[in-house]
Amino acid sequence: MMTVKSVLVDRARPVAEQPLDRAGVDRASIGGLVRAFYAKVRNDERLGPIFAREVTGDWEPHLEKMTDFWCSVILKAGDYHGRPVPAHLKLKDVTEADFEIWLALFRQTAAELFAPETAAVFVDRAERIATSLKLAMFFRLTPTAARQRPIAGFGET
Ligand code: HEM
Repeated sequence: MMTVKSVLVDRARPVAEQPLDRAGVDRASIGGLVRAFYAKVRNDERLGPIFAREVTGDWEPHLEKMTDFWCSVILKAGDYHGRPVPAHLKLKDVTEADFEIWLALFRQTAAELFAPETAAVFVDRAERIATSLKLAMFFRLTPTAARQRPIAGFGET
């Protein structure tokens, strides 16, 4: 059955599209993007502490998971089988404005490491997924939308 929840979860997942076939876009370069991006995130005064609370100890498993994620988004070949929506619904102190910081750092990193046309593909996917995550995290059907709480009964454990 197609529910609001299933739509949101599916939208946040890599959808069936053609793999991006461009020189220089492979697991190694995607891993480089992920590493450079999370180095910026960890240095950011707002996002750094959020990630430091969630990723305690070894960052390597997180970086590998994110490399799998981006390989499946871009190359349709990654081994990512996680669920991004529940992972973010848990983060109670994240706001919509934080997504702008996240996206700005991502755009900057993609522009540093890839040719403009390729960076644009990464950024486009990141923006769409960010929109899906924000819908899942902040959208409410009631007039209290501005209060930025997760949808009642959805993801609250
Ligand atoms: C302000 C925005 C964001 C914050 C603060 C945030 C934070 C986090 C944190 C703390 C985790 C858990 C760490 C871990 O699983 O190792 C996580 C996981 C993840 N994030 Fe984000 N994130 C944000 C935006 C995004 C966006 C825009 C994307 C995709 C384009 C994304 C993709 C993922 C994925 C794929 C996971 C792994 C989920 C899993 O399988 O467990 N995140 N994020």
